[in-house]
Amino acid sequence: SPDRRLAGRHILVTAGPTHEPIDPVRYIANRSSGKQGFAIAAACAEMGARVTLVSGPVTLPTPAGVDRINVETALQMADAVASALPADAAIMVAAVADWHVEAAGQKLKKGAGAPALSLVPNPDILADLGASPNRPRLLVGFAAETERVLDHAAAKRIAKRADWIVANDVSGDVMGGEENSVHLLTETGVESWPHAPKAVVARRLAQRIADAL
Ligand code: C5P
Repeated sequence: SPDRRLAGRHILVTAGPTHEPIDPVRYIANRSSGKQGFAIAAACAEMGARVTLVSGPVTLPTPAGVDRINVETALQMADAVASALPADAAIMVAAVADWHVEAAGQKLKKGAGAPALSLVPNPDILADLGASPNRPRLLVGFAAETERVLDHAAAKRIAKRADWIVANDVSGDVMGGEENSVHLLTETGVESWPHAPKAVVARRLAQRIADAL
């Protein structure tokens, strides 16, 4: 029989990149495809959860049974996350831009020399949730790293007050690809999971979430 252990739970997932406008026609972005976050939202919905998926700009279809909120910028993502609370668990998979640009109101023109972009820090949505009175009971972050993956992920788990960090080595072709290599860091240690399709990683994580809730 299907595993419906997440029935009655509300799970919040962020996914995809953010786009930070430079001017009305240009933006700063990153290589996140949204695939892993969408797969996690789908897996939680399959296990019966009510799922709110806050998605940056991606070209993926909305998984069955998932409530999707589309955003463009990190600031919009932060607002959408705050509005979606309370949640029993939050899985922050989005590759949120660390800075936004003090955007120009009109298209920047060439000719007068290269413009300087003024960067302003974005809120850290995961860390803010970790410190919030509305903190979900289970808070899961992701750490995309290209070196010293476990060290950086362990530091992030503490700094952001997350319960778990899913660390992935993105030095290969993980970003945009169909498969992922992850380590799950919890309060009790590290588990290295086999390289697998993102849907398999997602179902395994959803089962662990059900165990924890
Ligand atoms: O610090 P870093 O960006 O590597 O942390 C990654 C984790 O933090 C991910 O779970 C990501 O979704 C979350 N994050 C966030 N808001 C930010 C930056 C990262 O929620 N501004």
